[in-house]
Parts: sequence; C-alpha cells; structure tokens
Amino acid sequence: MSFNVRTVNDLDEFTSAVLAIGQYFGMTPTEERMQRFLDQITAERMHAAWENGSIVGGAGAFAFDLSVPGGDLPTAGVSVVGVYPTHRRRGVLRSLMRAQLDSAHERGEPLAALWASEETIYGRFGYGLASFCGEIKLAHEYTSFAQPFEPEGTIRLLDRDEAREVVPPVYERVSAQWPGMFSRDELWWDQRELDDPDDRREGAGPKRWVAYERDGSADAYAAYRHKPGWDEGSTVAELRVVEALAATPTAERDLWAYLLAIDWKATVHASLLPPDHALFFLLATPRRLRYRMGDGLWVRLVDVGAALSGRKYSSDGEIVFEVSDEFCPWNEGRWKLADGAASRTEEDADIALSAQALGSAYLGGVSFASLGRAGRAEELQDGALMRADGLFRWDRHPWCPEIF
Ligand SMILES: CC(C)(COP(=O)(O)OP(=O)(O)OC[C@H]1O[C@@H](n2cnc3c(N)ncnc32)[C@H](O)[C@@H]1OP(=O)(O)O)[C@@H](O)C(=O)NCCC(=O)NCCS
Repeated sequence: MSFNVRTVNDLDEFTSAVLAIGQYFGMTPTEERMQRFLDQITAERMHAAWENGSIVGGAGAFAFDLSVPGGDLPTAGVSVVGVYPTHRRRGVLRSLMRAQLDSAHERGEPLAALWASEETIYGRFGYGLASFCGEIKLAHEYTSFAQPFEPEGTIRLLDRDEAREVVPPVYERVSAQWPGMFSRDELWWDQRELDDPDDRREGAGPKRWVAYERDGSADAYAAYRHKPGWDEGSTVAELRVVEALAATPTAERDLWAYLLAIDWKATVHASLLPPDHALFFLLATPRRLRYRMGDGLWVRLVDVGAALSGRKYSSDGEIVFEVSDEFCPWNEGRWKLADGAASRTEEDADIALSAQALGSAYLGGVSFASLGRAGRAEELQDGALMRADGLFRWDRHPWCPEIF
C-alpha cells in the first residue's frame, strides 16, 4: 500500500510527524521544544505520511556535511523516523523512505546517513552498516596508563560562553581528520550541545566542559557529567563522558589522563567510541574497558557517482563496480573509479555488489574482503576485493561521536 507523503507545512503538522517516533521515546511535546526542533530540521526536510487527513508517520533529514576520507559531502542526516503503532507494517515507512531519498536526490545530496534503532530496518532501502562503535565502563582502579608520561598541556574548565567559543573550532579540526562526523551549525551547538535541560541528564549532573590547551592552542575538549552515588559508605559514582575529542595524539592522551584521574568516582562511562580508539593502546589494562561494540553509522549512497568522486583514496588504481540498486535505480550499472573520480563505463566489472554493500565500504570502515566473505560482494576478477581495499581503506575507523 502506498501512502500520501509530503513535507509538513506548519508546527502542528511537524509535531504530529515527530510524535510518530516521539511517542516511543515517551516524549511530551511542548510548543517551545517543537519549534526549536523545527528550526533545526526545517519544514521542507520533514516528511509526513497521511491517511484520511491524519498523519500516520514521519521522517526527517538534517542538512549537514558528513566528513568522508579526505573531505566532506552534503548529506541527508536521516532522523525522527517513526510510524504510529496503529499503522505499522502497511508500507508507511517504505512510502516515507521513497519520498525522502527522492528529495535528497533532487537536492543533489550524494549521501544519506542514519543511526538505526534496529539493524533490520534500513538495509532494504540501500543503507549499509558503515562503522562500528562501542561503550566502555572502566573501573577507577584500572585507569593506569601503559607508559609513564607527563602531560604537556593544561586543562581549563569552561563556562557556557567560553565553551561556545572554544569548542566548535576543535570539533571542526577533528572532523576534518575523521570520516563519519557531521558538521554542526550554530543552532546545533546552542541547542544540542550547550543547552542542558534536566530531561537530557538521565539522573546525572550538568554538563561540564573542559578544554585542553597547549602552547596557546585549544587542541581538545571534553563534556562530561558527574553521577554521584554511595553504597555502604563507598562511592559508586559514575563519570559519564558525553564527548571527548582531540585534534592531536598528545591532546588525546592528556585529555583522557585528566578524565580518568578525576576523583570520587567508581567508573568512567563513555559510549560511541570507535573500535580503534587510542585508549586501547594508552591503558595498561585495556581489557578492563569492557568495550561492547555495536553498529554505528549507516550510509546510503544517494548518488553513487558523486559519492565515489567526493572522497579521497589511499592509493592510485582503478576498479570497476557493477552496482545493483533496486530502491534507487538511477545508481544501477557499471561504475569505473579511476584517478579518484567515478564515471559510467562499459568495461568489464571487477566487483559486483549492491549499493548497500558499497555504502558499507564507503567510509573505509568495512573492507571489501569482509563483504566478500559475507556474500555481500562478488569478486569477478582475481584480487579485485584486495585491490578495492587498497583504494578505500583509510588511516582510521569512521567515527560519529553523536547520535543525530
Ligand atoms: C520501524 C518502523 C518505522 C517501520 O515502519 P512500518 O511502516 O511498519 O514499515 P513498512 O510497513 O513500510 O515496512 C517496510 C519493510 O520493512 C520491514 N520492517 C519494518 N520494520 C521492521 C522491523 N522493525 N524489523 C524488521 N523488519 C521491519 C517490513 O516487514 C517491510 O518489509 P518488506 O519490504 O519485505 O515488505 C515502525 O515500526 C516504527 O515506527 N517503529 C518504532 C520506532 C522506530 O524504530 N523508528 C526507527 C528509528 S531509526
């Protein structure tokens, strides 16, 4: 069944569309909150599905640039996807995905990306699992570093105004190095990062911001919360690291040395950390991180040619892909990647794969070899998967430090 889908016109329609997912989160929408959210996502990027004059589902897409190996690209940051429980499994999501990807294509956004509530949902629409991330719960007594060192910079607590000034440029420096991060505009910084209402604290205290400075330059920052607690007279407090990003290796080491040394806590919690995080090699007992990994960003190549041409590659070389893409048939066919640019070709293909699998490999976090072993990419010429990996791999695993 196909539903009537269009973008919303006003705050009321927006609120109903957001409530399609919001109700599953227990959201109580206030006018002020919804207006702020509408300002961020904008009406023309929020689709709603209607039946008999009522909204039965919604799907939004933030406008941001996603960092990709060696650059960044305009991306539909898909979010607030939901269908009212009264209308589940009747094709509402499919209708929303259709309209949303068509819109992204018309706007010329080569990529769409999302965080999936369940890993079963988005593959059918061409989204590929493109990065992994995980959470840590590190007990205070296991926070020793493997090698002795003296911190080379200093840590400064920032009030809100200072954080607003100091932190965004560091984030931009980090995202220029790291595939998988999304650009944050002024509204995002103000409303998503610096505003700190009670309902975002999950029982912990307010966000504390610190900057790490060395030779007059802010090279790293962290936001964290204290969650105090006692059990039989001893602390069971948590230090919850919301985000800790560093633009240099020294800054990363020194920032974590600060966070891990904070007194009066039993554990340090952090999430969304990439599987190649420096902590695994900085700490004396990395096993004690109790790292639990899951899926991170899902990437959809909306325009295969523009997406492949929009990132850099680790080596010279050529590869021809035979791409299948039922949901976005404009991508189907043979694409040749040569000299860092992709174009249509009639040459024989080296690898046959779906747009979904190419989305998985795109940021360099998933190898063609593993896609091949899982039956997700077919090697048509000997050695082609390894050749493609030589091109696509990057010096770090993609990292998106925040769920959007
Ligand atoms: C997930 C959700 C959006 C699906 O909406 P829906 O309208 O029921 O989905 P559709 O009827 O369009 O289903 C499209 C296809 O996806 C499948 N599908 C949908 N939800 C699925 C799920 N949770 N797990 C597995 N398959 C799912 C359907 O079976 C259907 O398969 P088909 O193409 O083989 O027929 C809806 O159940 C929902 O709102 N869930 C709670 C909120 C949520 O998880 N939102 C996603 C946030 S990232």
